Amino acid sequence: MVTSPLSPRGLFLLCLAAAATTYAAPAPSPDVSVSSSSKSPRTYPIVKKRTPTRTGDDLLSWANNHRSHLQGKYGFETATSSSSKRRDVGVAPLVNYQHDSTWYATFEVGTPAKALNLVLDTGSSDIWVSASNFTPSASSTFSNASSAFSITYGSGAVNGYEARDTFTLAGHTVPGMPFAVATEVSSNLEDDVTSGIAGLGFQALSSANSVPFWQAANESEFSFYLQRSPSTDDVTVSTGGYFTLGGTNTSLYQGDINWSNVISKTYWLITLGGVSVADSSIDIGSTNKAAIDSGTTLIGGPESVIAAMYSKIDGASAIEGADGYYQYPCDSSVNATLTFGNQQYSLGSDQFEVAALDSSGEYCMGAFFSVGSTSASTLQWIVGDAFLSSVYTIMQNGDTARVGFAALADGLNDGGASSTTVARTQPATTSGAAQHKAMAAQLAVMAVLAAVVGQALLC
Ligand SMILES: *[C@@H]1O[C@H](CO)[C@@H](O)[C@H](O)[C@H]1NC(C)=O
Ligand SMILES: *[C@@H]1O[C@H](CO)[C@@H](O)[C@H](O)[C@H]1NC(C)=O
Ligand SMILES: *[C@@H]1O[C@H](CO)[C@@H](O)[C@H](O)[C@H]1NC(C)=O
Ligand SMILES: *[C@@H]1O[C@H](CO)[C@@H](O)[C@H](O)[C@H]1NC(C)=O
Ligand SMILES: *[C@@H]1O[C@H](CO)[C@@H](O)[C@H](O)[C@H]1NC(C)=O
Repeated sequence: MVTSPLSPRGLFLLCLAAAATTYAAPAPSPDVSVSSSSKSPRTYPIVKKRTPTRTGDDLLSWANNHRSHLQGKYGFETATSSSSKRRDVGVAPLVNYQHDSTWYATFEVGTPAKALNLVLDTGSSDIWVSASNFTPSASSTFSNASSAFSITYGSGAVNGYEARDTFTLAGHTVPGMPFAVATEVSSNLEDDVTSGIAGLGFQALSSANSVPFWQAANESEFSFYLQRSPSTDDVTVSTGGYFTLGGTNTSLYQGDINWSNVISKTYWLITLGGVSVADSSIDIGSTNKAAIDSGTTLIGGPESVIAAMYSKIDGASAIEGADGYYQYPCDSSVNATLTFGNQQYSLGSDQFEVAALDSSGEYCMGAFFSVGSTSASTLQWIVGDAFLSSVYTIMQNGDTARVGFAALADGLNDGGASSTTVARTQPATTSGAAQHKAMAAQLAVMAVLAAVVGQALLC
């Protein structure tokens, strides 16, 4: 365990500032033009934040917040709360906690550039920055659009005003990027490491009707690898993988990219082909529209299908005090699959298990949860990081937009025997030279990671 007199936030801003490459800001311009020119892709490290120690009660309260946030974000019908039936689950620390995770990247905002950590959220399309971390008068390129901005989530709200300023990420500088300065942020949406959210969905989803950052940067493709951290690791922020703007990074995946067309350009919304759990396939009926959401931790689905999934696991039951969530005996090793584009992707038992509910480690919370009734919604599934950290994800716009998944490069997120694998129907043909190249690339990745981790530890 690393101890430091600095706050984790100060520490990591310092380290990120030291690690970040700086780019000269071009002359400011008040307007954003959009076209589809293509530059060479740039890769930028992302960071993972999580809350290290939670009691059983905290886990339930986190789970309730996670679900009501999604119900608000996606407009699902909210069921009546059963918080009065809340069970006492004890106060011992959790043994395995990978449930609260957020991946963010450090943007440079304004002139002179200020480093701000923004959550990368493919499930929304606005950028907002908390006014407590950003001072408009300190930026010479800031311009006030003066219209009110407001987003309401089930569990909170963000209010402020629309503005424009220069934003840089992954070697891409966008002068006059539309964003919102959030003057009121409800406490459950704020934390001490991130300063806001960068939405990476489509413009149609934007509350301010703004062009999202990737598009304002004249790019039609971005991709990401979300790195998991070992559950024994005590630090609250760690290297979190890589975000590539303008294409893919071939050192991060292997084999073919399998694509699914986007159903409507709002969320990155694609067709779910099926689900299975413990080797039983579950009938999803017509509930097959899935939003691919890097801003969500777990995997939400319709009540009836989620109940059917847990009925296949011996000893599983609904968790009292956390509507929509299920528990199952921790000693059963449960795996699951999701199918997209005729390709089945496996979730290992480490990804299926969110955390033990108490210190005895008898019952664990599962990563699939019910979002409630989805009959009134245009989508039924929200596929978050429990799945996305198992694959390399590519988002591509065009006449038809599409989402691609590929197997991670060897050595990435390999947590051991139960780690997730992608069942590849067409195994990559690997020549000796290609193998050598892949190994060199992998060593390069490890060197970069080691350097960043080393820097964090040194700081
Ligand atoms: C690809 O990602 C690696 C990290 O795995 C990084 O070192 C490299 O610079 C990236 N390549 C490009 C072309 O951005
Ligand atoms: C921007 O405009 C809004 C709405 O008119 C106002 O409330 C806010 O104080 C202004 N901010 C700055 C920095 O001028
Ligand atoms: C996007 O492309 C247009 C047209 O080529 C150009 O005017 C604009 O400056 C570009 N924007 C960025 C952020 O590169
Ligand atoms: C995805 O992979 C499967 C199996 O290889 C193949 O049948 C399917 O056509 C692929 N889909 C796309 C969109 O590439
Ligand atoms: C899933 O678990 C079952 C039962 O333990 C096992 O037989 C099967 O091989 C596992 N599948 C994968 C893809 O891990």
